[in-house]
Amino acid sequence: MNEMLEKGSLKLKWAYRNMPVMREIDKRFLEERPFEGVKIGMALHTEAKTGILAVVLTNGGAKVRLASCNPLSTDDTVALALEEEYGIEVYAKKGETQEEYYSNLNKVLDLGPDLIIDDGADVIAMAHTTRRDAVKKIKGANEETTTGVARLKAMAAAGKLEFPVISVNDAKVKYLFDNRYGTGQSVFDGWMNATSLVVAGKRFVVAGYGWCGKGIAMRAKGLGAAVTVCEVDPVKAIEARMDGFEVMRMIDAVRTADMLVTATGCRDIIKEEHFAAMKDGCIMGNAGHFDNEINKTDLERSAASANKVREAVVEYRMKDGRKLYLIAEGRLMNLAAGQGHPVEIMDTSFAAQALSAEYLLEKSPEMENKVYDVPEAIDTEIAGIKLRSMGITIDTLTEDQRRYISKWEEGT
Ligand code: ADE
Repeated sequence: MNEMLEKGSLKLKWAYRNMPVMREIDKRFLEERPFEGVKIGMALHTEAKTGILAVVLTNGGAKVRLASCNPLSTDDTVALALEEEYGIEVYAKKGETQEEYYSNLNKVLDLGPDLIIDDGADVIAMAHTTRRDAVKKIKGANEETTTGVARLKAMAAAGKLEFPVISVNDAKVKYLFDNRYGTGQSVFDGWMNATSLVVAGKRFVVAGYGWCGKGIAMRAKGLGAAVTVCEVDPVKAIEARMDGFEVMRMIDAVRTADMLVTATGCRDIIKEEHFAAMKDGCIMGNAGHFDNEINKTDLERSAASANKVREAVVEYRMKDGRKLYLIAEGRLMNLAAGQGHPVEIMDTSFAAQALSAEYLLEKSPEMENKVYDVPEAIDTEIAGIKLRSMGITIDTLTEDQRRYISKWEEGT
């Protein structure tokens, strides 16, 4: 076996071994084959955990074609092993150009998929615009991430969405663990790989206090950083303050920042005025889906020169002599410079994907062209399997208690 193939194969096996929820779903899918004759087009970060989702859907009878949802997030060893060992068609390579990226997404739509599993909503958007030939056949789609869900809700509000979408991002077994603990850990994996520098003792600024921002701030504090949060939502800003963090405007935060991570889902969080005021030596990274949170055009325009100083770090020398640093071209630092979220985290996220895809296949004829939450029963089923796998047994309500909480007449 060649070395790359062996590496990818081992990573997939390790992931499978540590995904007890996916293993249980896999067992049932192998018996029941719910996706027999169904084509599934996937655009997700093409790494080992995603590979297991592709394998489990294939074992459920689906023909799967996979592309990456980010030009820098593919693990080429895994892509090779998925093709060679599992017969899954993969159109993804690390470092693909923008042109190759869109060509690979087009390949996903060339399959004529019945279902789409998307991360960021690029494939869904293409099916509604440049690839209208594909849209009629698509019964429905799942969306993985906050940014994609926001795009799809905007499409639905404009009356443009032509099939139902399930917001897998908003399953409790997804955002409570993946967005918070997954991003919280994988951002620092990316940080370490990219910089090899300590977190303790640094002034760490996080932009956004959604579930991802909360996880990042919590872990930064745990690693010994002094943490500042920048947030536009007044309620979340109070929450950040009460969680013990400094809260201020970005223009003020950049003056003391040693490290800065964006996790907002919005564009231009760090732009020209911020680069002008930023502390010398600040290292910036992004944990949001798109690479537009840190405005690279402004950064390049503000700089006198740019030099790669580590594999995933570019040094920008400002015209006044300050040096600012950018990790992984401002792309998702936890995947572009790290290995993505931990395996057990993606176990529940991808279980929500697998079960939502099964639900969509059955229910899409009755569904409207809008964005749906993951059914509560799916959340509960996944949480139950996960708890069992953790060796945890919890109490259940008695009949009497159940009756009590469903009534309003009885107070005491
Ligand atoms: N691995 C696969 N998909 C991922 C995601 N959306 N975030 C982090 N790691 C991942």
